[in-house]
Amino acid sequence: MKISKDFLWGASTSAYQFEGAWNEDGKEPSVQDIRTVPEGTTDFKVASDHYHHLIEDMNLFSELGLSAYRFSISWSRIMPNGKVSDRGVKFYTELIDGLLERGIEPIVTVFHFDLPLSLSKIGGWSNRKTIDEFSKYCKLLFDLFGKKVKYWQTINEQNILTLASKVIDGGNKTWKEVFQANHHMLVAQAIVMGIYHRGDYGGLIGPAPNICAIYPRTSSAQDQLAADYMSSFRNWLYLDAAVYGRYNQMAMDILKKLDAVPDITDEDRNIMKNNTCDYIAFNYYGSGCAKESTNNSNNKGSDQQQGLSIPGFFESTENNKLEETEFGWPIDAEGLRVTAHQIYSRYELPLLITENGLGCKDTLINGKVHDQYRIDYLQKHIQALRESINDGIPFIGYCPWSAVDLISTHEGFRKRYGFVYVNRSDSDLGDMRRIKKDSFYWYKKVIESNGEDLEY
Ligand code: BG6
Repeated sequence: MKISKDFLWGASTSAYQFEGAWNEDGKEPSVQDIRTVPEGTTDFKVASDHYHHLIEDMNLFSELGLSAYRFSISWSRIMPNGKVSDRGVKFYTELIDGLLERGIEPIVTVFHFDLPLSLSKIGGWSNRKTIDEFSKYCKLLFDLFGKKVKYWQTINEQNILTLASKVIDGGNKTWKEVFQANHHMLVAQAIVMGIYHRGDYGGLIGPAPNICAIYPRTSSAQDQLAADYMSSFRNWLYLDAAVYGRYNQMAMDILKKLDAVPDITDEDRNIMKNNTCDYIAFNYYGSGCAKESTNNSNNKGSDQQQGLSIPGFFESTENNKLEETEFGWPIDAEGLRVTAHQIYSRYELPLLITENGLGCKDTLINGKVHDQYRIDYLQKHIQALRESINDGIPFIGYCPWSAVDLISTHEGFRKRYGFVYVNRSDSDLGDMRRIKKDSFYWYKKVIESNGEDLEY
């Protein structure tokens, strides 16, 4: 089956990882802007300085041939300390109008890991007041941009944000606190999906978790059960809530045994039940693998793709059938097809890939970046996407991470994903010059052929 003509060929970024200008034009700092700068590195808040390269970057998107661009809006830029900022509105208006003028569909995530500091100070998502503030913020965005933006996502990787607050950051919170905050995000998401639908803005809204198939390490029943538990805890809890408006039973079993069942009011239940999503956006980097939990299962070295374990339920483990990136993430293109099937057979909603890509240390040699390894990775994933479409799964589009190099969540600037190189490093802000990588020219050809020509 051919990919349909209206399929969106995009690329992704997020505000705090791309924009810079973290304290300019009235922007309030977000939780990302107060992180400690690792020793020996330069200020990561400058990111790729997109805020001051807006036109140049949009021209690059246009030259690349993108039909969509997925980005996030910085809550603390457009609504610093809860007040609307004209300068914040101006920036995103210029971005959205600029994309539309270039024939590029804007795909907006309203929240991507960058909670305003003022809300963090009152407890962030553990405080129900953040639900009200999020609703006001989203209503503002829908009123400002609802007629121009057709694809909205609520919260980027709520599953990773939640698991990170306990597992990855080695936080001191209890599981109950973690899942209470997670519950507030689920309620907030449902409320804004309701606001969006009642407002008749004319587009689609959905979540954007990081979803990946979890394989059992062996063919034993114990490992299969571990994989199912891990999948429920990492994947389905979040999507069942967004699509069905209820908690996943296996995930709930884990929460009960961790003494982490959140307080859920009748009103929360009604809100979740009555306000569900229109489509599913998801980020996919590679699959996961689980084995039966042993008593000493722990979460050392966890991040988005590795290391999550819950004693008594599952232990995440390496899949020795797969190669890994230089940053230790498994590469599993065919796993994208498995994941797409799992999602679609559970929910039967259109899918949009909002992130997928290879993070590695590119080198600039004589003004060029020969990133054949990235082309190989993307080629195989687009092939798997084509097969998934051929299997009958409806896809809205594909937005690899990332349009341009940007700062990694926890690996600085040395871990790059972009089609465009940004001339800076972790130790030197450089001149921020944009340089098209080999993958830029390759992806341009892929887009021109509507995914038919994947050769390099
Ligand atoms: C996803 C996030 O988890 O993965 C992005 O949504 C992130 O924000 C991307 O950058 C790649 O992860 P990392 O850790 O390599 O930056």
